Amino acid sequence: MTGAQERAKKGRFITLEGGEGAGKSTQIAHLKAFLEKRGRSVLTTREPGGAPGAEMVRKLLVEGPAERWDGVTEALLHFAARREHLRSTVWPALKRGDWVVSDRFADSTMAYQGGGYGIDRALLDKLYGIAVGDFRPDLTVILDLPVEAGLARAAARRGNETRYESLPRDFHERVRKGFLDIAAAEPDRCLVIDATAGVEAVASAIAEAVTRRLKV
Ligand code: TMP
Repeated sequence: MTGAQERAKKGRFITLEGGEGAGKSTQIAHLKAFLEKRGRSVLTTREPGGAPGAEMVRKLLVEGPAERWDGVTEALLHFAARREHLRSTVWPALKRGDWVVSDRFADSTMAYQGGGYGIDRALLDKLYGIAVGDFRPDLTVILDLPVEAGLARAAARRGNETRYESLPRDFHERVRKGFLDIAAAEPDRCLVIDATAGVEAVASAIAEAVTRRLKV
């Protein structure tokens, strides 16, 4: 979205981020219910994916052996999928006035491809500019969880989307740190929530943050 499009936008864009098994899907369902109770029209979506073309790219990214792509190719694929997701799903919904809640967005690329693989942040920022422009989430909730606990939770429910999970533990430690660094650098946009608390406690913390920061 360009600056002009951003000003025309009527809805709000909220992203949920975190490592493997942080409980994002459960929390997105809670947040949707909360926002709908407040009278908002809500669209939930996800990355990679969230539009037919982007879901095709998702398959390339989350299935198969870990060595299928290097970090730069992955970043390109994630940004290609993201652009399609924005163009086909997110931007039209925001224009209609929907509140869009996305399971992952660009911070995942900064944490996984940047933190995890060590791809240069300046390169990722350049790709962000090309694919996304100056559009940003209104609020980003980062669900933080020790790597071990997250991988155990994720393993319990995966089908064939095991590509990232199969990466070594220190990769996931760097991802976790990547998210925490983003939150520290952008405190106005980001909020870190301890995902080891129970589902209800995490849901209330998110609802409270959304109420306070976005005046829902
Ligand atoms: P999911 O398991 O939350 O559906 O996400 C699929 C995987 O894709 C997950 O392991 C994180 C990874 N991912 C990236 O590496 N970079 C990205 O930009 C995104 C959106 C996801």
